[in-house]
Amino acid sequence: MVRTVEAVRAERAELPAPVGLVPTMGALHEGHLSLLRRARGECRSLIASLFVNPAQFGPGEDFASYPRDEERDARLFAETGVDLLFAPGIEEIYPPGHATTVTVGGAEERPEGLSRPGHFTGVATVVTALLSIVAPDRAYLGEKDAQQLAVVSRLVRDLALPVEVVACPTVRDPDGLALSSRNVYLSREERRQALSLSAGLRAAAAAFAAGVRDAGELRRIVSGCVSSQPLAVLDYVSLADGEMREEIEGEVQGEAVLSVAARVGGTRLIDNVRLRP
Ligand code: PAF
Repeated sequence: MVRTVEAVRAERAELPAPVGLVPTMGALHEGHLSLLRRARGECRSLIASLFVNPAQFGPGEDFASYPRDEERDARLFAETGVDLLFAPGIEEIYPPGHATTVTVGGAEERPEGLSRPGHFTGVATVVTALLSIVAPDRAYLGEKDAQQLAVVSRLVRDLALPVEVVACPTVRDPDGLALSSRNVYLSREERRQALSLSAGLRAAAAAFAAGVRDAGELRRIVSGCVSSQPLAVLDYVSLADGEMREEIEGEVQGEAVLSVAARVGGTRLIDNVRLRP
């Protein structure tokens, strides 16, 4: 494990290409492990980062209580075949006087950005820093955080960063719940009611497959399912184009992303499904 920018750059320079990067905030679950296994299978060298990025948490969000277990994470990274683990302290990424942020146009105006002001600037800033420090050939990100994936893909394209973004499918528990580090916050009953997010998305995807193209109706299927649960407070249901730049009104024509966010008990959860005609 290395903690400094200088050390990770020196070790990375010795690794054979292609080099894959899996950026994480730790609290590893099967979703992270699936990214690591895919990257391990596709790259000669594998680097993972572990950094709970304060800049992507808003005031009142769970930065202080975010699950942290570095020892367990380090063991799992090693077991999955990570060649180099970069686990910097906060001052290594944000040294005193740090004053540069990266904002991807439009991201803060999309539903997830509106619900979490500053979040995507925090994500884009840290991901740009990690890509600059590690200089991987490929970066592996999960489709579970659909808007994050869209933001990172956009910034890589716009800034012509020499890295390929590899999107990896959401991993779910057998009952459909999308894996998230925040699932550990859920009580048994909250977890049961949280299934309404994936159930709503599945029902809407089935309606879409059966020919329903009205965006409002597809959103209503999801919101109806989540709102029927007393412990779930719906934040938004969004149906956007494939790159998640604009909300779709009227008929869905091409590929689209249906996404949902809700608070179940005290835990904010997100999930999504890609609709392909
Ligand atoms: O998805 C995450 O874990 C984080 O948002 C990321 C990409 C590691 C940036 O901090």
